[in-house]
Amino acid sequence: MRVPVIAGNWKMYKTAAQAVFLFQKLEDLVTEVTDVEIIVCPPFTALRSLSVVIEQDRPNIALGAQNMHWEDEGAYTGEISPIMLKDLGVKYVIVGHSERRMLFSESDEMISAKIKSALAHDLIPILCVGETLEQREKGDTESVVKNQVTLDLGEVSAEDVSKLIIAYEPIWAIGTGRTATPEVANETIKYIRSLLSDMYSSKTAQAVRILYGGSVKPTNIADLMSQSDIDGALVGGASLEPESFARIAKWSA
Ligand code: PGA
Repeated sequence: MRVPVIAGNWKMYKTAAQAVFLFQKLEDLVTEVTDVEIIVCPPFTALRSLSVVIEQDRPNIALGAQNMHWEDEGAYTGEISPIMLKDLGVKYVIVGHSERRMLFSESDEMISAKIKSALAHDLIPILCVGETLEQREKGDTESVVKNQVTLDLGEVSAEDVSKLIIAYEPIWAIGTGRTATPEVANETIKYIRSLLSDMYSSKTAQAVRILYGGSVKPTNIADLMSQSDIDGALVGGASLEPESFARIAKWSA
């Protein structure tokens, strides 16, 4: 059984005080949610404040970071290492978000190094993959996603891969209000699972949680979650308000 995941990516929004306010409101609104894993990924500057207030008796709410460097330490001005994240009680880390791939020139080689390093430090990567509108219109979705999955997970063992989370985020659906239809999202997610089955085994592929991301809202989450292969959502804009984030986490209520 794959436990559903609702992850909030707060991007470069919220000061530490605003993040604590949002987080505590969210915790209050989801008290009865126990069968969904809720992951909150604030900016680095708010991680410490959230790690202090996070309720220890809520094992289904965890902290995630939005990025990390692959080295443990070194002369990398402006970067944050996996050891520093672990030190703050972080359990998950988003790797390879399309904004990092496109705006900060992250290559699959860098993403692969980050995935290996995160796993070595017992951080669970949330690997993001997805195609541009142009690539989708040319019919290249599967080849783009295949390239990303094979390069990014190239050297990851079956045991490690079964722990990680993949988020399929079509770039044309991020922050645009244009969601992939549940069927289209499910089709690509199924394809990703078939790739994992070829690379590892069908048992491993069945264990990996694959989320959808891109304009997920309280109004479309139930349809997305009703699909066979969608195990949850990576939510940007709608995770910045406690009510909408909570309504997404409570889609089945
Ligand atoms: P969005 O962002 O929900 O605002 O489209 C999703 C993401 O970038 O992870």
